[in-house]
Amino acid sequence: MSPVRALLLENLHPQATENLEAAGIDVVNQAGALDEDELIEALDGVELLGIRSKTMLTERVMEACPSLIGVGAFSIGTNQIDLAAAARRGIAAFNAPFSNTRSVVEMAVAEMISLTRRLQVHNRLMHEGVWNKSADGAHEIRSRTLGIVGYGNIGSQLSVVAEALGMNVIFYDNAEKLALGNATRMPTLESLLQAADVVTLHVDGRAGNQGFFGRTQFEMMKPGALFLNLSRGFIVDVDALKEGLESGAIGGAAIDVFPEEPKKKGDPFVSPLQNIPNVILTPHIGGSTEEAQRDIGIFVSKRLRDYVQNGSTSLSVNLPNLQLEQPQGSHRIAHLHENIPGVLAAVNRELAEHNVNIDGQLLATRGELGYVVTDVAAGLTDDAVAALGAMPGTVRLRVLS
Ligand SMILES: NC(=O)c1ccc[n+]([C@@H]2O[C@H](COP(=O)([O-])OP(=O)(O)OC[C@H]3O[C@@H](n4cnc5c(N)ncnc54)[C@H](O)[C@@H]3O)[C@@H](O)[C@H]2O)c1
Repeated sequence: MSPVRALLLENLHPQATENLEAAGIDVVNQAGALDEDELIEALDGVELLGIRSKTMLTERVMEACPSLIGVGAFSIGTNQIDLAAAARRGIAAFNAPFSNTRSVVEMAVAEMISLTRRLQVHNRLMHEGVWNKSADGAHEIRSRTLGIVGYGNIGSQLSVVAEALGMNVIFYDNAEKLALGNATRMPTLESLLQAADVVTLHVDGRAGNQGFFGRTQFEMMKPGALFLNLSRGFIVDVDALKEGLESGAIGGAAIDVFPEEPKKKGDPFVSPLQNIPNVILTPHIGGSTEEAQRDIGIFVSKRLRDYVQNGSTSLSVNLPNLQLEQPQGSHRIAHLHENIPGVLAAVNRELAEHNVNIDGQLLATRGELGYVVTDVAAGLTDDAVAALGAMPGTVRLRVLS
């Protein structure tokens, strides 16, 4: 059997290549992103694709590249992939949902301290030649109350680190969450805003969060409280934030994400928040560290490798999730099908009719898809495989030995 081929675009971390090659996969790297036509040409005969955020994997590309079985988004977001179209074709998509969590948390901590000590105000004055030694408006973060809005991967990790620094942590999340350490869950966003010295947003980018934090919320904050947004730009009304900062109602802000962000490095950046004292602006770099890049490279390449080697779809963002170990029998049959009644029975009937004994079997479903993985002893014939492949409702059949 010829080796599986992978195409990795957009300068992925070398660790991704190492992991795939160690599994016997042939890897070709290309530095830049490709457009649709270039991608179709480059994917000829290729089973795995690795991309960051600039390469768009559209339905047209997938239609033209039937060899593709898996795609890795070496990023948090997966907007660059048409996930539904990939699922319909049995192309498993993976991402790295928490490889840069720690990086965002560390930046939030640095910014909280920096704003609480007004470091960027002093820094700017010093560069302008002004020596303004003063304790006015400078505080320790110890004993201050941090209000975390969105207690997911980042919010909950920040909770632990902030508590270790001596902060009181309160949080608000609209889903049930385990409060870590001594953190206190607040019943409403309003109650959090009224109690926090620092408010930091870590909600996700679901469409319903558009404009989530506006004038009403800023007005509920304690006078002089600090505000951080390292989540998504469209969640915050930046004009309302600007007003709050200029009036002094908000004591300072650190903003890493913006409603409109330049497309690429070097493009001009314009925001109403520019040139306001005690405001830190950064170009969406919360998760951008070399450690996070390496961890993303390792994490996503392992998901692709496992999918190829043992059919595991664990943490796939578009296929039913099955966490699998190495096959128990001589062969593993991975059958992705439409989620309709009777498919499992039909798979087993075909195997029985072809005299194939089942050693183990697992099934998972997700929306319109079902995924049944069957380990069988020796004796799996080409006829049996052909019969399974021809079953109505089959989306993709893979036999792993
Ligand atoms: N600045 C960066 O470079 C960077 C890097 C990574 C992630 N992010 C962003 O950080 C955010 C958080 O990431 P994560 O991995 O912790 O996500 P996550 O999905 O683990 O957590 C999000 C949490 O927010 C909660 N939530 C969503 N909407 C809410 C609402 N309206 N009210 C209250 N709670 C709400 C969810 O229940 C969940 O617990 C995301 O928006 C992500 O895009 C930014």
